[in-house]
Amino acid sequence: MKIVLISSSARKKKSQTLLLAKEVLRGCAKETVGSEVMHLCDLRIEFCRHCEKCHREIMSCPIEDDIRMILKSMLEADGIILASPNYINQITASMKALLERASHFIHCKRLLGKYVVGVVSSGSGQDKDILDYIMRYAHICGAQYCGGVSSRAPVSEGKAEEAFKLGRQLAADIEEKKRFSDQERAIQEGIEYFKKIMEMRKQDWIGEYQYWQEKGWL
Ligand SMILES: Cc1cc2nc3c(=O)[nH]c(=O)nc-3n(C[C@H](O)[C@H](O)[C@H](O)COP(=O)(O)O)c2cc1C
Repeated sequence: MKIVLISSSARKKKSQTLLLAKEVLRGCAKETVGSEVMHLCDLRIEFCRHCEKCHREIMSCPIEDDIRMILKSMLEADGIILASPNYINQITASMKALLERASHFIHCKRLLGKYVVGVVSSGSGQDKDILDYIMRYAHICGAQYCGGVSSRAPVSEGKAEEAFKLGRQLAADIEEKKRFSDQERAIQEGIEYFKKIMEMRKQDWIGEYQYWQEKGWL
């Protein structure tokens, strides 16, 4: 199984979020054949320009930066760990820029069958809204959410242990292809909702419409 950890801390080595997220990764290590750690601060991600090219021609984008490589890695993964510090009660701008560049993942539910875990650290430990946001993001892309872990910085031993256990859980969920029925319902509702949008936009979003046709969802 392949796990990709995407960290959006601006402080690579000193990052408390990364420390916590690496515990999640360590928790799934035994089962993992390939894992990858990506630091968004090392990569170039420009803002989405809303040209809709990726909707007309899947995965294509006029901006030449590192986004294609990141998205490809997410598509190849079984599990995705989204790790962000709390910046003004949200994920960081770099993580948000990444998600905005991947609206095709939402339109075509490209993370279906994958599992997502959220990791957050902050000064206050008030991170529930951010974990909920990551969970909702997983669902709108079709992925199931195994859970999240957050910690006030510095990360305590107890929190590190919680993160390790979450990693174990992530690996087990992927292994048994666990199905969370309530989440599947939410994902299905999202598909039904987008079905109408796809019909409405089929003249413009040609590539994505074709993807839906190939999947037999229309
Ligand atoms: C721009 C910025 C905004 C922040 N906003 C918040 C916040 O709203 N609430 C909070 O509890 N901590 C906030 N913090 C503190 C960080 O979330 C905290 O230090 C976190 O552990 C940093 O993660 P890192 O070590 O992985 O970079 C903020 C830090 C920065 C730099």
